[in-house]
Amino acid sequence: MKSVVVIDGRLVADDQACVSVFDRGFLYGDSVFEAIATRGGRPVDLQAHLARLVRSAEQVHIPMPVPWTRIAAEVDMALSTSGNAESNIRVMLTRGQGALGLDPSSAHSPLRVIIVTPLQRPPREFYEQGIGVSTYRTQRTADATDAVGAKVGNYLVAVLGMHAARAQGSEEALVLDGKGHVVEGATSNVFAVRGGVLVTPPVEAGILPGITRARLLEIARAQGIACEEKTLTVAEFLAADEVFISSSIREVVPVVRIDGTPVGGGQPGPIARRLLTAYQQWAENKA
Ligand SMILES: Cc1ncc(COP(=O)(O)O)c(C=O)c1O
Repeated sequence: MKSVVVIDGRLVADDQACVSVFDRGFLYGDSVFEAIATRGGRPVDLQAHLARLVRSAEQVHIPMPVPWTRIAAEVDMALSTSGNAESNIRVMLTRGQGALGLDPSSAHSPLRVIIVTPLQRPPREFYEQGIGVSTYRTQRTADATDAVGAKVGNYLVAVLGMHAARAQGSEEALVLDGKGHVVEGATSNVFAVRGGVLVTPPVEAGILPGITRARLLEIARAQGIACEEKTLTVAEFLAADEVFISSSIREVVPVVRIDGTPVGGGQPGPIARRLLTAYQQWAENKA
């Protein structure tokens, strides 16, 4: 079990893996990235993740240094070198080195980095007992740009949201937009079950279009569960029968408290359980 780093296509020992302090990913968070988990040793939805990486790069005008298929091959090389049973895969693309000033045109060679580490899933009790989350009100400035929905390195809102959430003993922050609607988690998408209908905020709400979110909606629809994409207020989430979050690393985690108030009777709900099982089965078979 080990960590493996690939920089611009070359394997580098993890303790030797360095990038320049002039790299704009370091200076400004001027980068895009993906976080991918494996199941059965194979990356889950790798193609969808790399498609989103390409889209994110386009949105922030970072040219792809190599085709996505080459990055996929480099991910495979990193995974087989690691020998991990299950891995957490980070794929990053930065604008590369530039002058200290902000002007993006001073950077000419995008840098690509793949980091593979042993996968650490959340503790079992998160799945069995659910987690508490805290709301974090913002104006979501990224939503006012053409880069809405891009997975960019600058995670300021999420970092501040998680800082506040951890101070309150919560495991995740629920980000609210300027109108008080729940948009998504700090690093997750959010779902509610209301009268048997699965509800999640739409992509138009300025969310990161989660790969897991899309897969869960597909699985739910195939199972005959009605799905609706619309934003809900905190009060509506609190009144829901179930709430859960999704992400590639955590898959599906039930939420049982919002700002300390029990939701869904304070217990994980049946739809979250059913979707987690179905998602894991799908990932084992199809990844
Ligand atoms: C802001 C945000 N929303 C949603 C997600 C979930 O996306 P995915 O299912 O593609 O992991 C993430 C994942 O890191 C995220 O950072």
